[in-house]
Amino acid sequence: MVWWGWVWHGARMTSTEAEIQVSYDVSNEFFRLWLDENMHYTSATYLTGDETLEQAQVQKCERLREFAEVTETSRVLDIGCGWGSNLDFLVRTGVGEAHGVTLSTAQAEWVHARKLPGVKVWVTDYKDFVPDRPYDALQSIEMIDHLCSPAQATKGLAVDIYRGYFAKCASWVEPGACFGFQAILRNRVPRTRKDLEDLAFTADVIFPGGLNPRLEELVAAVNPHWEILELRTQRESYGRTTAEWLRRMRSHEATIRDRWGDQLFDDYERYLSTCVRAFDRHWSSDVQMKLRRI
Ligand SMILES: C[S@@+](CC[C@H](N)C(=O)[O-])C[C@H]1O[C@@H](n2cnc3c(N)ncnc32)[C@H](O)[C@@H]1O
Repeated sequence: MVWWGWVWHGARMTSTEAEIQVSYDVSNEFFRLWLDENMHYTSATYLTGDETLEQAQVQKCERLREFAEVTETSRVLDIGCGWGSNLDFLVRTGVGEAHGVTLSTAQAEWVHARKLPGVKVWVTDYKDFVPDRPYDALQSIEMIDHLCSPAQATKGLAVDIYRGYFAKCASWVEPGACFGFQAILRNRVPRTRKDLEDLAFTADVIFPGGLNPRLEELVAAVNPHWEILELRTQRESYGRTTAEWLRRMRSHEATIRDRWGDQLFDDYERYLSTCVRAFDRHWSSDVQMKLRRI
């Protein structure tokens, strides 16, 4: 997850490694208590609404695998791979090589500990990543939300920053290769002081340095390198996902307060409750795109 920034955040730029550590290096054991067992920290894809979170996370990976046209021999890069949940899925469903990049050391250590065959992960900014040869397919699940800061968006730089990201990704594949892409979107602006304060808290305390894109910014930014073949939004799926994370976290309240302190529990309860409202009230949404390299 990354959160919003309708609120001014000073001159801060794109999420730095230190800011990423604020968001993802709290404690692997803490996240393991309330994410699903594979540690997906992004929206699942509910098709009927009756699935478990675990089933819906598999459905998300299946869709993005299809969008990227991954086969059993593909060499795939997952940009912003988190704790390796999607890499794990790729290995279980069949892939040649599955590589990931992340800015979080704690996440990379978790991926290494999984000992997945054919999987490699690098702790690096995607901008500095240089593959030794082209990939057959790309995937990226809610990583772009870290790339443009509120200050940069205020200066009108968002589309250029996203275009730079899509251009870099395009340089890693041959024409015709596909990209299964997912991002959180910002949509409507809330109206009440409390809602705005909750969003500011989430952006400042839980996800410093990031800003969710608007759908139209992404559609503009994929040009001239990528063609959009499919585009689906899944606002309700993210509402269900965050509601389930909140329910699971609350069920471990005593353990979390005891082990990590009241502040951490209170902060994450406020953040996850804000997420549930954000998707319910259309402040935010989520998009999946199938892109093909032109
Ligand atoms: C919301 S997490 C999503 C993780 C994973 N894709 C998932 O589905 O659970 C965002 C990920 O993007 C990574 N990330 C953010 N900015 C990055 C950058 N500039 N270069 C590489 N990775 C980055 C973070 O380290 C984190 O792993």
